[in-house]
Amino acid sequence: MKKTSKTKRLGDATLAIHAGEERFHVGAPVGVSIARTSNFTFASTEEMKRWAEGKSSAYIYTRYGNPTLAVAEKKLAALEGAEAAVVTASGSAAISAALFSLLRAGDELIATRQLYGGSYRLMRDILPRFGIGVRHVEADLAGIEQLVSPRTKALYVETPTNPALRLVDLRKAAAFAQEWGLVSLVDNTFATPVLQKPLQMGFNLVVHSASKYLCGHSDVVAGAAAGSAALIGKVRQYVVQLGGSMDPEAAFLMIRGMKTLEVRVARHCASALAVAKFLEKHPKVARVHYPGLASHPDHRLARRQMSGFGGMLAFDHKGGLAGARRFCDRVRVFLLAASLGGTESLVVLPIYTSHHRMSGAELREVGIEPGTVRVSVGLEDPQDLIEDLRQALR
Ligand SMILES: Cc1ncc(COP(=O)(O)O)c(C=O)c1O
Repeated sequence: MKKTSKTKRLGDATLAIHAGEERFHVGAPVGVSIARTSNFTFASTEEMKRWAEGKSSAYIYTRYGNPTLAVAEKKLAALEGAEAAVVTASGSAAISAALFSLLRAGDELIATRQLYGGSYRLMRDILPRFGIGVRHVEADLAGIEQLVSPRTKALYVETPTNPALRLVDLRKAAAFAQEWGLVSLVDNTFATPVLQKPLQMGFNLVVHSASKYLCGHSDVVAGAAAGSAALIGKVRQYVVQLGGSMDPEAAFLMIRGMKTLEVRVARHCASALAVAKFLEKHPKVARVHYPGLASHPDHRLARRQMSGFGGMLAFDHKGGLAGARRFCDRVRVFLLAASLGGTESLVVLPIYTSHHRMSGAELREVGIEPGTVRVSVGLEDPQDLIEDLRQALR
């Protein structure tokens, strides 16, 4: 994208297509090239020395950086309204590098209890082994003041949550973090920067499982973090040292995915609302969890802080686990598969996938029933999706 003197911010669809791509000269390729290389040449030992002294930002080895990764980083940073971004081998790599870059032994983290199961398990099983304490708060942040101590260093939230689709009030959470001097992080995977821009609401860092909507085609595992140049510099150091860097092929797929993010998300939102309304009226469905429904406890908050309600929903089958399993085994257009945010519609039982290795009590605390089905609404014709749900519920 050519630099212009105009300061007006471009729209998300324009940024997604052009940001990070420099096509200044005659004959510049319109498509992005994959720098499929592990290493880069130095012109001289003098340049090597300058790099070692931190005086040169030349590429030397793809784990440290690569031109294709840089395009993906600039594009995501533009969409999130961030100074900088770093792309990673997975969302989990971004989350763990971000937390390890901020916390050390003796520190404490406050995190919402409702989280992607992998993030929850990182906090339950791994951070404590490094002397990092974790205290959980509900999505409504009730009583959060009682959880802060002089050791608390960061606040981590996810909104909407996986899979119960509860929302955290981002402005309230950011204000709390600022008041107590905590670094605030949010997992923006479900909303994407198209529906929600947490940095504009006062958050310090955004993390993503780019495997989902950002890449968007169920063909790559990828992650990212975005925020200030200073914070991203720290996260990048941990990504590089822990070895969680993205592969250039994945970066290409992420760039290509992001180009259509805005149009895909619009369709995901419209179809998810249609599916949620259908399920809400179905006699075999006890409850639908979708922030776009007026019956959802966070509907008003969703209207305030999101520009759309997203493509993810969940519902509780009246027949419990047996009913939910029967339903999942009968879908024909929907696929029975983990992950989310791709072109294909998916159903999954969180107790067997994203939230496996969690006790019955832990599952109840985060709103997951044995008969909870998580639905990722894809880009197929919405009437085909509804017909498929109707026949599978019959
Ligand atoms: C909300 C959320 N955050 C993070 C992750 C982890 O991302 P990844 O699988 O790319 O490591 C997931 C994966 O399912 C997720 O749903």
